[in-house]
Amino acid sequence: MNFARKIPQACEYIPTLNRMGYMSPALDEIQLAFVKHCENNKTGLFLDIGCGFGVATQPVAKRGCQVIACDLEERHLAVLNESIPQKYRSLVTLLAGHFPDELTFPHNTFDGINISMVLHFLSPLSIEKAFKEISLCLKPGGRLFLTTSSPYQRALSLFAPIYEKRKYVEEWPGYIDDIAKYVPHRAHLLPKRNIVFCTDELSRVASKFGLDVQTATFFSREGIPPDLSLEGREYSGIICEKPKDSPLIFLEKNKEVSPIHAANIR
Ligand SMILES: C[S@@+](CC[C@H](N)C(=O)[O-])C[C@H]1O[C@@H](n2cnc3c(N)ncnc32)[C@H](O)[C@@H]1O
Repeated sequence: MNFARKIPQACEYIPTLNRMGYMSPALDEIQLAFVKHCENNKTGLFLDIGCGFGVATQPVAKRGCQVIACDLEERHLAVLNESIPQKYRSLVTLLAGHFPDELTFPHNTFDGINISMVLHFLSPLSIEKAFKEISLCLKPGGRLFLTTSSPYQRALSLFAPIYEKRKYVEEWPGYIDDIAKYVPHRAHLLPKRNIVFCTDELSRVASKFGLDVQTATFFSREGIPPDLSLEGREYSGIICEKPKDSPLIFLEKNKEVSPIHAANIR
């Protein structure tokens, strides 16, 4: 009997329980930077949005940092809760709900926020709302760590030329109305509608909400399945800092609407 075929590989992707894609058990380079940031700011408070089974939450707690882990799916949080060693449990607060529609946080609360492989499942309107919330609830000097899939995955080879045509004329060129058209073999793991992102879209929306983009990069990840692996640009990530004099803080204090939104310029 060939046991090797039955034992999952260390980095094999794990499907979510709610058809929201799949999760790698290994940290990518942006998540690693998030963990390092937490480690360097041990007394801070951190947020992991769409934490799944807690691939990023766990190492943060294990470094002795306080972290709020939130997810739409209660079963993911239950798995995470079970897998945190007892001595770190008091460091982790679990919250179930939709970010940003149901979960919001007080302004200037977090020293760092991780949101990894989650934006795909939000509508364009909710993506903007999410960035606004993130920008408001980060402390000045706090950092955002964000990763997404890019259009440059092997399974999206038929979509990549469409993305390229749209990229200079559409705000969200990575919008896919029916994922089964491009990725039929993974469609059962994903919602019908999906958005993939390049660093340009991520950087643009982060800047629009007052965040300084410090790193914007494509990357690949350990254990990437062959049907996704292409040429090393399969994922997009950004690291941003909320400036000490964020324009959003000024507008909020004065109860003003951002001029971009008031004029509905997109
Ligand atoms: C592909 S998984 C990524 C999980 C984890 N961040 C990681 O990188 O391994 C996406 C996760 O985001 C959660 N999610 C999707 N939309 C969400 C939302 N609007 N608010 C909170 N969690 C959400 C899903 O339930 C799922 O656990």
